[in-house]
Amino acid sequence: MEQRTDSPYPRRDRPVLAVIGALLVVSTVVFAVTDHRKDWRYYQATFRQMVAEKLGAEKAAQIPSGTVQIWVPQLGRADRCITCHQGVAWKGFETADEPYRTHPAAPLKAHPIEKFGCTACHGGQGWAVDADPAHGPVEHWEDPVLGKALGEAYSLATDDKAALMQMNCNVCHRYDRETKGADLINRGKALVNAKGCRACHVINGRGGTIGPDLTWVGDKAPEQYDMSRLSGQRTAFAWHVAHLKDPRSLVPDTVMPNFSFGTQDAQALATLVLSWRRAPTAVDYRPGVARTDPQTPEEVAEEQRMKTGPGAWFVKTGCFVCHSISSLGVKSAAQIGPDLSTAVEDTQKRFGKTVDDFLKNPTGTMSVVLSRQIVLTDAEKDVAIQKLREAFAEHQRQAAGAPGTAVPGAPPRP
Ligand code: HEC
Ligand code: HEC
Ligand code: HEC
Ligand code: HEC
Ligand code: HEC
Repeated sequence: MEQRTDSPYPRRDRPVLAVIGALLVVSTVVFAVTDHRKDWRYYQATFRQMVAEKLGAEKAAQIPSGTVQIWVPQLGRADRCITCHQGVAWKGFETADEPYRTHPAAPLKAHPIEKFGCTACHGGQGWAVDADPAHGPVEHWEDPVLGKALGEAYSLATDDKAALMQMNCNVCHRYDRETKGADLINRGKALVNAKGCRACHVINGRGGTIGPDLTWVGDKAPEQYDMSRLSGQRTAFAWHVAHLKDPRSLVPDTVMPNFSFGTQDAQALATLVLSWRRAPTAVDYRPGVARTDPQTPEEVAEEQRMKTGPGAWFVKTGCFVCHSISSLGVKSAAQIGPDLSTAVEDTQKRFGKTVDDFLKNPTGTMSVVLSRQIVLTDAEKDVAIQKLREAFAEHQRQAAGAPGTAVPGAPPRP
């Protein structure tokens, strides 16, 4: 099944190909030295026998022997997995043991192996023809086969122990709102929207700047993580799961909130976060959608409504990313901070200072917000204080049941 494509490839792929070329040379040398340990010969002989018994000697004679690879220059991959996994493209071996089993048909429909190889989805070292180096994990190689074995080692809390593979699916499918066959990733994406991570993080080109831009966070090397407060496994995956469950346990002075995620949700988000990698992938391998996460028409309409209502100032200024101001009909998707309708009273209770003092000398999250994300002049702070007073007055009018200013979209009065 040797695949050759002579089509010209973009210049930027050349360094990748050069590296792969070098790896091939090295692996050929290693191969020559360690030939006696090769067990792929055993798998090939067994598969030939299986085919001969089931389909006849003529079919068996069609099976290629020696090292077999799928070369996909556009993806910078030369995958030799089928040297052992010879049954992948054959029908009739659906129940055979690995590595002889017929591949499940569904994933290969939109991604034929001639065009996608194996490692773009599965991970692993494509050039290796020994099982251990092919599957990993191997030291200094961060791309092991994301299969059941690793899922079990990482204690995945889902029934689908091979779900880590979806990390690789989403390198290409990152702009899909949902991807069939990637439930764990889909769950992570739903949580990012529901919890409003974008209040503080840029993700796919959209969001706030209080936390780091997460667009390529999956490219961070394990050495770049501070693992000192992490107990148990010291992997990037374990770090993210622990951080998502309780950010302060790993970064004591962080303003990232504790969302009280359970293990499954934290793992779904960790899988998603680690999928945010740069892919050495030609554009025609990317599903054809806009290069940013689109807002739904409902989200756009809701924002438009709030932008023209009595709470317009809070929307325009960006406070509504984290705060609802329900008395003015402003609803925050993320609700990371408290409702500001009663802030005038609450800052006194919570922080022991007036709202004027609080905005001029903020603490906690608001000190980061006002120094980095929404920088207000003194005059603008005065406007903010004025608007907070208006919101409170409106809240009191509504609480008293008195007729107040008409608020489009506000909850009906009792
Ligand atoms: C030397 C032969 C050999 C090579 C090369 C090889 N495999 Fe395997 N593979 C096996 C055998 C044997 C098994 C079944 C036993 C096991 O799981 O280790 C297996 C099992 C698997 C499984 C199922 C196990 C799991 O954890 O989910 C996957 C997926 C897999 N291989 C993918 C790959 C990929 C991708 C490559 C290429 C990077 C590859 N293999 C290269 C021999 C090989
Ligand atoms: C489009 C992505 C994709 C490509 C390309 C792909 N696979 Fe798979 N493969 C999958 C999915 C999805 C499954 C099902 C995983 C599951 O649910 O256990 C699977 C299952 C497998 C299994 C069985 C694993 C198990 O857990 O039982 C093996 C082995 C395997 N693939 C090897 C290969 C080899 C070898 C190639 C290249 C010739 C390849 N795959 C190409 C997505 C892909
Ligand atoms: C190397 C990039 C790449 C990887 C990895 C990849 N895909 Fe895809 N996928 C594509 C492309 C390109 C298409 C074709 C989309 C199109 O026609 O717009 C596609 C199509 C699909 C479709 C059909 C979508 C449709 O609208 O018809 C599904 C479902 C899908 N992929 C799921 C997966 C899953 C699940 C995985 C992981 C097991 C995966 N993909 C891995 C690039 C990739
Ligand atoms: C109130 C602001 C805020 C919100 C909301 C927030 N984060 Fe964070 N996040 C931060 C800050 C600040 C950091 C940097 C300090 C740290 O690591 O905790 C951070 C760090 C991170 C990191 C580590 C980045 C790196 O470079 O290692 C990830 C991943 C992350 N956040 C994911 C999320 C996800 C997912 C959500 C939504 C469920 C979310 N954050 C919501 C403020 C926030
Ligand atoms: C990124 C999220 C975020 C943004 C954007 C944001 N805030 Fe906050 N705000 C918070 C959080 C979280 C708190 C709760 C205090 C804490 O945790 O430190 C808070 C507290 C407050 C309080 C104290 C309220 C109380 O009831 O105690 C006021 C007042 C306030 N913010 C005003 C504003 C204004 C005005 C804006 C827009 C200029 C704004 N905030 C933008 C997250 C945010």
